[in-house]
Formats: sequence, C-alpha cells, structure tokens
Amino acid sequence: MIAIIGGTGVYQLPGAETEERELETPYGTIGVTLRHLPDGLDIVFAARHGKGHAVPPHRLPSRALLWGLRDMGVTGILSTSAVGALTTDLPPGTLALLGDFMDFTKSRPTTFHDGPGVVHVDVTETYCPTLRGALRDVAARMGVPLYPRDVVYVCTEGPRFETPSEIRAYRMLGGDVVGMTQVPEAVLARELGIHYAGVALVTNLAAGIEGSRPSHHEVLDLMGRSGETVARLLLQAAAEIGENPDCSHCPKSEGMS
Ligand code: HPA
Repeated sequence: MIAIIGGTGVYQLPGAETEERELETPYGTIGVTLRHLPDGLDIVFAARHGKGHAVPPHRLPSRALLWGLRDMGVTGILSTSAVGALTTDLPPGTLALLGDFMDFTKSRPTTFHDGPGVVHVDVTETYCPTLRGALRDVAARMGVPLYPRDVVYVCTEGPRFETPSEIRAYRMLGGDVVGMTQVPEAVLARELGIHYAGVALVTNLAAGIEGSRPSHHEVLDLMGRSGETVARLLLQAAAEIGENPDCSHCPKSEGMS
C-alpha cells in the first residue's frame, strides 16, 4: 500500500476522507485516514504535525508513524515538506523532488536500531528512484512544473528558523533547501525497507537571502495557496503507482523483521 504524509499546509487529501484509523505501536498511537479509491485501491494519509498542526517538528512521533504505516502494509511513501530556499534559483512557489539530505538535528530519536546490536543503515540513496520517476511523470502529465533537478534538503532542529550565517554555511556545504522534518522520517522509512520520495514546496527564501526574514505566517500563506496542488500531485501519483511500487531496480533496503 502507498501512504501520503502531508507536511505543513497539507492536512488532508482533496475529496472526502473515508475511514479514520488509530495505529497502536510500541512508540505510541498515531491517527491516519484511509482513502478508498473507486478501483479498490486503498491509500493511507497521515498529517505529519497531527490535526490542527499541533506537534512541533522536534517532537514529531516519527517512529510511531513509520512503525504504524509498516504494520498496515505500507511499502511506499510520498511526502510533502514546506522548505526555505538557500538560493534565489528556487523562488517561493517552486516545487522540487528531494534527492539527498544533510542532518543538522540535535535532540530527536533518529533510529529504530537503538541496541542491543549494531546496525548501520545505507542511506546512499535515501529517496527511491522509482517513486521519484513516478512523481516526475505524473507532474509532467498534470502540467505541474517541477524544478529540473532533485535537491539537497538540509534538516535543522527548529523550531526556530536559522541564522543568516547558518544559511550561508549550509549553502557552501551544498544544500539547496532547508526544513525541519526530513530527519528522521526518511531515515526511519529506509530502516524499515519502505520506499520513500519527497516533494518540497519552497515557501520562502531562507534567512538572510536577499534580506529575507522567514516567518511562520509566510510559510502558512504560501502553503495555503499551493498546498492543494501538491496534495493532488501526490494523490494522482499514488493512484498510478498502484498497490506496491515496482522497485525491482532500487538499491536493496535494510528492512527490519
Ligand atoms: N527554515 C526551516 N524550515 C522551513 C523554512 C525555513 O526557512 N521554511 C519552511 N520550513
């Protein structure tokens, strides 16, 4: 089954939801919605920050969410993220697929592999090429413009925005966009062997770029205008991918039993 994780500004899928589910996991309980499509396909939707955007990025119950989705039989995830741009090449409103990430988080549980035993998960290719390809195809057919290359996401701890010096440093290191939620979400998906792709929506220029001072209001405003387009793209892609992504050419996942 395919799951869609909606970030800031994407709290539901277009159309009527059909069934609410509570997922019990060793890491806590998580609420998701099941969407039954006419051809018998089910899609799971989860609002990353919970109902009403209640949970801040450094306190997200990511382990409960990923564990619960895996228990439901989810094999592929399409997600949305609001991001700041580290360059004016990605003006607000730009949509881009995620190609890699850098982790600057500080205080979150970032793994299921908490011992005993040592497991090192390969994150050379965190973002699934098959799911990314499906998103590009569907976006082209829907006439939704995507940035031509996949971008590098810098994940910060938040909840504060970054300083202009931090943003300059992240850009020098090779980052394209900055957000607060890809880590550990994408890593945990990888640990469970769930294929994962992310669409970033640029809501603002990051701190100090052309004098920008990011604000939560600005992020919500842009997401309010463009969030539905992203949700439609992900829903259509999920419907076309079908029951399970065909990931026979993807690198081997390090799934846990
Ligand atoms: N920084 C971090 N996270 C964000 C930003 C930003 O500028 N915009 C949207 N999410």
